[in-house]
Amino acid sequence: MKTTLALSLCAALVVVHAAEKYTTKFDNIDVDQILKNDRLLTPYMNCILKDTNCTPDARELKRVLPDALATNCSKCSEKQKAGAQKVISYLAKNKPDVWNEVLAKYDKNNVYRTKYADEARKLGVPI
Ligand SMILES: *[C@@H]1O[C@H](CO)[C@@H](O)[C@H](O)[C@H]1NC(C)=O
Repeated sequence: MKTTLALSLCAALVVVHAAEKYTTKFDNIDVDQILKNDRLLTPYMNCILKDTNCTPDARELKRVLPDALATNCSKCSEKQKAGAQKVISYLAKNKPDVWNEVLAKYDKNNVYRTKYADEARKLGVPI
């Protein structure tokens, strides 16, 4: 009886965990607008890379970034997934210095470059 209860609890927790998603509070942010404007982009990058100039949305991005990388964005909304692809593709192609800093900080051991090599190729991201 106890075992059954424990097992059911575990199963319930697994289900809850699988359904867990990142907040969509910031999904209405215009990613294109930010990417094409260095005055907007720089504070985001400073937050992600140096933990300075963090606005609430940049802080949330910084918070979930390691998890999103580890889980292949499986808790991302469709909008977040599309935004992530856009940002990665833009930075890699247009801001190689910033992109290399991101990789150095968030992919120190080359784990994700290897894991996502196929996706990167599809996005035309040089890795
Ligand atoms: C990541 O998820 C996408 C679907 O969103 C899938 O096409 C891709 O194969 C996954 N990549 C890895 C490395 O698991």
